[in-house]
Order: sequence, then C-alpha cells, then structure tokens
Amino acid sequence: SDINLQEVHDFLVDVAKQAGEVITAARPSTTAAGEKKNSVDLVTETDQATERLITDLVRKSYPHFEFMGEETYKPGDKLTNSPTLIVDPVDGTTNLVHRYPYISVSLGLAINRKPVVGVIYNPFNKTLFSGIKGKGSFLSDPFHDHVRLPLKEPEPLTLDKALVAVEWGSDRAGHDYDVKVKTFRNLCASAEEGGAIVHGIRSFGSAALNLCGVAAGHLDAYWEAGCWAWDVCAGWVILEEAGGQIVDANKGNWQPEVDGRRYLAVRKGERQNAFIEELWGHVAGDLQVGIEG
Ligand code: IPD
Repeated sequence: SDINLQEVHDFLVDVAKQAGEVITAARPSTTAAGEKKNSVDLVTETDQATERLITDLVRKSYPHFEFMGEETYKPGDKLTNSPTLIVDPVDGTTNLVHRYPYISVSLGLAINRKPVVGVIYNPFNKTLFSGIKGKGSFLSDPFHDHVRLPLKEPEPLTLDKALVAVEWGSDRAGHDYDVKVKTFRNLCASAEEGGAIVHGIRSFGSAALNLCGVAAGHLDAYWEAGCWAWDVCAGWVILEEAGGQIVDANKGNWQPEVDGRRYLAVRKGERQNAFIEELWGHVAGDLQVGIEG
C-alpha cells in the first residue's frame, strides 16, 4: 500500500499526547462514571471526549481511514481489510475513575486486518510505547529516550520464574469466570517440588499496558479472555516487533468481533513455544467468550 507508516506513527504520537492532555485535565470519579453492560463496565465523559478529539484529528489528516473506537463501536461493526484506526481513548477506565494513574491511550492501525502501527501512551507518567511493522518497537519515558524493546537481554522462558499478567474482566459470573478463577488459582499454587507454578500473577487493569509490559520484558506473559480489538491492536504490533508473540487469536485472519477474543501474549525469549505449552497446561477449561461475552 502507499500509506507511509512512519508518518502515521508520528501523527498518532501527536494525537496520543493531545488526548493525554484531555485525560490528565479531567477529574473523574467513581460516582460520575456511567455503566455500560454492568456495574463494573465503566465509561466516563473523559473516555467520550477523548475519543471525539481523536476522531476529529484523524478525519482531518486521514479522511479515508476507517475508524473503530471503543466508545462508538456498535455490535455488528466489522473490521474490514481497509486501513482502520482502532482506538481505545482510555484503556483502564476503572483505574482512571479511581485516579490510579495506570491508564493509556491506545491507537493502532490495522491494514488487511493485521496491526501495523501501534502507539500506547500513559499521560500520567509520560510513558510512550510505539511500534511499526518491520521497524521495531520503542519506549520513551523520563528514563528512556527512544530505547528499543525489549529493554533487557531476554532470559529463556520458564513458567516457574514467570510473572504473568491476567485480568478479571467485567464478567464476574458464569462459565468463563469460573475458568479464569481456576486458572489463576492453578498458576499461583505451590508446585510439588517446592516453590510455586509461577513467580506471580498481576492484574494492572490496562490490556494495552500489559502488552507493552510483555514487549518490554518486564512481564513474561499476559493472558486474557474478553479483549476487544481496541484493547489489543496497538499492543500487538509493539509486542511482535519486540520479538514476542500473541497466540490463540485467529492468526492472520483476525476478526476481533467474532473471534473468541482470547489473547495470550508471550515475550521474546528462548523456549517460547515450550513455555506456551506449559502455561496452556494450567488453563482450566475451554472458554466460550464470544461477541456476547
Ligand atoms: C479494559 C482494560 C482491562 C481489561 C478489559 C478492557 P477499558 O479496557 O484493558 O484491563 O481487563 O478487557 O476492556 O474498558 O478500560 O478501555
């Protein structure tokens, strides 16, 4: 295609920073948050205002791009092969309403349903992760100036030394919830030979930043069922460009609206496939999450 991915990237970095100013200026609260599907699926005026700003900027500079955003998505909307900007204005809305400064603006471009540009920005600590297909991914923050990911020489992946991000999601009952809770329990359990199955599990509350954590090599893996396209698009390219991989999504034929919406992200390192098998062995059943999930 004749789209200059570097230019799109630079534009999205600028958009993310402008969006970040809207977010840090807001004073959201738990009582002002609106509920979507249930009392733990939240939306704030900040999410909506930020998405509007992003849409306006994108329409001016890239009027021919399709757009898929968390706050304007309607069931039945489908990702097509056309260049599509996939946007989560605030990934980590629950953190935002509690004023826990662990959130991000997540801006991804997919072409032919493959993520090719990703920009993820936390405006509170001014941390910017970004990647371009074929060109690597990078971190800029107060301590790093455009440093390539992963940040350290990766050690071989072994489950018994792994730090794994998981998320509880907003469905807190039913079959899939049971599978998740049993899986979390399995992962944290003691191992027969002493120690434990993994070093620890973490639930930070931002899918996009979890993916960046795996790309950087801070986290060994991230597993979630129930992600939407805007949760993962930008992080996917950042992770792959850092030598990591996403498994269990419909590879090469991504249809986020109908796929199982299950994602297992694994960092760069030797034993990647063996590690995936080890981790998979602790997932406590088949998930049924789909578009209704
Ligand atoms: C959510 C967060 C959360 C994850 C959910 C996402 P939102 O995004 O990333 O960590 O568990 O799957 O939907 O709603 O805050 O944009």
